[in-house]
Amino acid sequence: MNIDILLGLQWGDEGKGKIVDAISPGYDIIARFQGGPNAGHSLEINNEKHVLHLIPSGIFHSDKLNIIGNGVVIDPAVFKEEIDNLGPGVDELIKRLVISARANLILPGHRILDAAIELSKGNTKIGSTLKGIGPAYTDKVARNGLRVGEILKKDFREAYNNNLKRHLSLLKSYDLNYELAEYEAGWFEGIELLKRFRISNTEYLINNLISSGKKLLAEGAQGTMLDIDFGSYPYVTSSNTISAGACTGLGIAPKKIGEVFGISKAYCTRVGSGPFPTELNNQTGTVLRERGFEFGATTGRPRRCGWLDLPALKYAIMINGVTQLFITKSDVMSGFETVKICTSYISEGRECLEIPFNNSPVEPVYREFPGWKEDISEIREYNKLPENLKKYIGFIEEQTGISVTMVSVGPDRKETIFRKRN
Ligand code: GDP
Ligand code: IMO
Ligand code: MG
Repeated sequence: MNIDILLGLQWGDEGKGKIVDAISPGYDIIARFQGGPNAGHSLEINNEKHVLHLIPSGIFHSDKLNIIGNGVVIDPAVFKEEIDNLGPGVDELIKRLVISARANLILPGHRILDAAIELSKGNTKIGSTLKGIGPAYTDKVARNGLRVGEILKKDFREAYNNNLKRHLSLLKSYDLNYELAEYEAGWFEGIELLKRFRISNTEYLINNLISSGKKLLAEGAQGTMLDIDFGSYPYVTSSNTISAGACTGLGIAPKKIGEVFGISKAYCTRVGSGPFPTELNNQTGTVLRERGFEFGATTGRPRRCGWLDLPALKYAIMINGVTQLFITKSDVMSGFETVKICTSYISEGRECLEIPFNNSPVEPVYREFPGWKEDISEIREYNKLPENLKKYIGFIEEQTGISVTMVSVGPDRKETIFRKRN
């Protein structure tokens, strides 16, 4: 099999960007298949930090082809900002990146609608990143969207204006003051930059390259618990973040999928609203946030922190067909006397192992483990990790039935322990 998928098993920010970059040498193509600039994927290479929003995390490898697939929603203004600040320069990036003609555009009106809709929800707001994701996918599904391939057509401006008119009329029903002109100007500069890149039917490109023996890594954005169908609806994002999304978001057949690498922090975090059974609203949560620098890579918001949630992890493994587990940020948990894992929930007085479909409140049932104190960031061999951390990981493997084949011990590319070379 020449196609593997790496995706988040929690509520996003599991460390996908770091790990995609670290395993990219084993692939020829790295492709994003869903989401948009709501994603913030951080990479650290020789102490230099980069945050990617739209561009796949293989971009820093000069010999890799990166693809933004049809399932992604692209904001040209964000794209331009990202390209301008990336380092390698536009001429070089043009060689490394191809964009699907079928990817939908996030229009300036989508961002304003996102803000208007969030505001109108009051206490029940989603906590959206306000990048226009929900309205852009809404227009895609309602068959109103504008797609990247259309920017090359003569009547693009007219199509844009028609959409803008529709958005402005929708906005009349919301109570929001907004300013469009400045953003619109940057957006059109982004359109001009996009035109310089290769825009193609990437589903052909991908399938042809795979047939000729090339290897592709599909990079998920967000996480399974934010999936539009299986996440804590409505507190989710607007795309399928799960492994099946890689098929629809790139145009690849399910039978071509090989490994599904599921990535999870050694604890849990969530940004935005919605249920989080193991959330720690106490000093322990604060310690995790501070030690783990748990602040959103896209919005800077503090992330909610809590213990590992096994029922949620098992659910994510089931939905995605995970074949290997990758655990990140166990270094952040160094220093606690004891640590906990939630093994089941109490719901309406009864023990329960399933994720409730309606977000009804559940009480976590914990199992406690002795902690580890060592600084593990310099360790590069699994066997040299503290015994208590290995027991913690062993318990996760025993409970999920899936091997942990990679342990990340720090944000840098090098701070990675592989137990199995793929
Ligand atoms: P993504 O959205 O899944 O790519 O994750 P983010 O980049 O939003 O958040 C993960 C954060 O943790 C980033 O700041 C990473 O640099 C950092 N990180 C990733 N893996 C590790 C790790 O194993 N240990 C530590 N301490 N930080 C990590
Ligand atoms: P990466 O790829 C964490 C969350 C938002 C909000 C909900 C809906 O970096 O893991 P949206 O902007 O999609 O309308 O927001 O989803 N969210 C993320 N949380 N990491 C992300 O991406 C996220 N992308 C969206 O905070 O709760
Ligand atoms: Mg992130």
